Amino acid sequence: MKIAVLGTGYVGLSTGVCLSEVGHHVICIDIDDQKINRLRQGISPIYEPGLEDLLTKNTAAGNLQFTTSHQEGIENAEVIIIAVGTPQRNDGAADLSYLLQAAKDVSAHLKPDSIVVIKSTVPVGTNDYVKSIITNHTKKPFKMVSNPEFLRQGSAIKDTMKADRIIIGSEDKEAALKIQEMYRPLNVPILMTNVRSAEMIKYASNAFLATKISFINEIANLCEAVGANIIDVANGMGKDKRIGEAFLQAGIGYGGSCFPKDVKALLHTAGLHGVDFSLLRETIAINDEQQKLLFTKACSRLKQLKDKKIAMLGLSFKPETDDMREAPSIKIAHLLHEAEAKVVAYDPVAKDNAKKILGDTIEYASSVDQAIENADAVFIVTEWNEFKQLDLTEVTKHMKQPIIFDGRNCFEENKIRACSKIEYYPVGKPAIVVGLDT
Ligand code: UDX
Repeated sequence: MKIAVLGTGYVGLSTGVCLSEVGHHVICIDIDDQKINRLRQGISPIYEPGLEDLLTKNTAAGNLQFTTSHQEGIENAEVIIIAVGTPQRNDGAADLSYLLQAAKDVSAHLKPDSIVVIKSTVPVGTNDYVKSIITNHTKKPFKMVSNPEFLRQGSAIKDTMKADRIIIGSEDKEAALKIQEMYRPLNVPILMTNVRSAEMIKYASNAFLATKISFINEIANLCEAVGANIIDVANGMGKDKRIGEAFLQAGIGYGGSCFPKDVKALLHTAGLHGVDFSLLRETIAINDEQQKLLFTKACSRLKQLKDKKIAMLGLSFKPETDDMREAPSIKIAHLLHEAEAKVVAYDPVAKDNAKKILGDTIEYASSVDQAIENADAVFIVTEWNEFKQLDLTEVTKHMKQPIIFDGRNCFEENKIRACSKIEYYPVGKPAIVVGLDT
């Protein structure tokens, strides 16, 4: 099948690469010519495990191409997948300007009877709106399909190739069957719905998962207060198939390019339709507080943070990505900066992106050793494997005071107790103090 993909962000690029890998002829379009040039050379603009290998392989095989020309990309495509960003507006709604521009670009070049697929996350009703825009700009017949994505950063290729489900929303049976055909080589469950249900499935899924995280974080806070252990509690809850084990990891709140934005957008949609979705407001409020957790704990333990050296381990919103969007590290760094602490951060890949947001409000170390040297406290912000494998005895030896605030529960109790001196503050579990009077 000849497929054009508009937008080479996370979603567009992962989708384009995976569809070329299963034998389709894919052309990815982006207005950024530097990005397109690099992609042609097999260089990915994002850090995503496995992506570059597939990119190089399929570009060399000739079934994956890149262009900045909408005409070249769209004029021969049977299927045009729109995967441009829908960032958050100040009022919480989704900004649809890129999408509307994409709709105009598509209408200028589409070939008759092609299928326009919207993969970008868009509020309910947007597919119909885009359809009306394309109809206003061209007389050529076309069909619309809503096909939201559920890929996670850091496992985008796996999530695309081995998706839990693919949602195909259309009022046109023939178009839906053609898109089903396009995905058939992936051999994953496919669910056909109408357009508005497909749009809603995406938001409802992300809002549910975000709410699950806020729920477990509140349970973790309660566990600390009553002396329970969140790991055992989450494990015990997750064994119930109705609850499920995934997304019950307590920590310092969710971040990233999807959850914060999508929860707010769904809340906005609810408001527009007169529905008071107060649960979502709480999900957001709990998350905002949870992102401050390490800072609050450090204030109460260290009393005064002024001139204290805090080593922040991890900056990206989660491991295996360099993405800093809505990362808890941003709020933590701002709070520490306001408190006049000296922050030295280390992240295996997110340093450059972090610098764009945090500038010189913090220092950037090039190794864990450099960050922790003589630190008054360590904050573990992102659960990179590199941090989970740290020898805590070595770490604490190099610190001024062996105090660790672990926002991601990276260490087993026996590893902590093996240290001769440590104060370890996890999330949702009792603190562990070894060899010190507090
Ligand atoms: C998410 C959705 O999972 C994906 O389906 C959608 O398409 C895009 O948004 P992503 O943002 O890449 O994917 O990351 P995800 O792995 O879902 O994690 C989101 C945030 O939740 C991270 O900050 C992570 O640290 C946090 N999280 C996740 C928890 O705090 N606890 C958990 O148990 C799981």
